[in-house]
Amino acid sequence: MTNDETPVISISNLHKSYGNLEVLKGVDMTAPRGHVVSLIGSSGSGKSTLLRCCNLLEDSQDGEIRFEGEPVRWRGHGLHRHPADKGQVIRIRSNLSMVFQQFNLWAHMTILQNVMEAPLTVLHQSREEVETRARELLDKVGIAEKADAYPAMLSGGQQQRAAIARALCMEPRALLFDEPTSALDPELEQEVVRVIKALAEEGRTMLLVTHDMRLAADVSDHVVFLHQGRIEEEGPPDALFGNPQTQRLRGFLRATEA
Ligand SMILES: Nc1ncnc2c1ncn2[C@@H]1O[C@H](COP(=O)(O)OP(=O)(O)OP(=O)(O)O)[C@@H](O)[C@H]1O
Ligand SMILES: [Mg+2]
Repeated sequence: MTNDETPVISISNLHKSYGNLEVLKGVDMTAPRGHVVSLIGSSGSGKSTLLRCCNLLEDSQDGEIRFEGEPVRWRGHGLHRHPADKGQVIRIRSNLSMVFQQFNLWAHMTILQNVMEAPLTVLHQSREEVETRARELLDKVGIAEKADAYPAMLSGGQQQRAAIARALCMEPRALLFDEPTSALDPELEQEVVRVIKALAEEGRTMLLVTHDMRLAADVSDHVVFLHQGRIEEEGPPDALFGNPQTQRLRGFLRATEA
């Protein structure tokens, strides 16, 4: 059973290794409904890995992942632990839409086709219904006139907004962003920042990995600072950015100001 109090995602004691390299060393994290949780930290600290473990794009070796209170079912142990139920994986993944740094649009499909693809093939929804929604979403992100263009004909900022429309078209319970603005020039970055802020104001549940501390400070309800696979410090943005408690976070924030 779920209600508004049940977090969309909750993770406890998550451990993840690539071979001998332990990348997540016991991470606890919760994404309550309607909240924006940002993940910050140095390159290699495990931010992308944590995001990819959440929607089961990566296996993890220990710990629990819950989607709307429902625990992921596993078979096997340690490096042999995998999700046990393919149907559950598809359901969870299609409810946690991901937006990547490099947009990852299909080059051979128009923008409209890109946005419609997953609802048609994964959710088996009717073409008419999906097309109506897709066009509304392209309008919402400000690129309605690009529906019939191909990705290569769009600027980076437009491509990323198309990728956000594509993620939204799945009507997911949460959006997972992995550095959505870091491949963009500063002025294009702002187009995408505006869309992310509007989504936060709508009360979308979001997990946001970002190097943009101003964005994290502006949109987050909660900020998590990862360091070498562990949560070093976390809290509301005012506290985390205004009054960092650990030497490591202070050092990290100084370095990102430069
Ligand atoms: N597929 C993989 N195989 C082996 N090691 C990996 C793989 N993906 C990531 N790693 C390692 O896991 C660690 C964490 O990587 P991750 O991509 O999660 O970091 P990140 O915090 O997202 O960094 P960045 O800010 O550079 O994106 C790094 O040491 C990285 O080299
Ligand atoms: Mg990363």
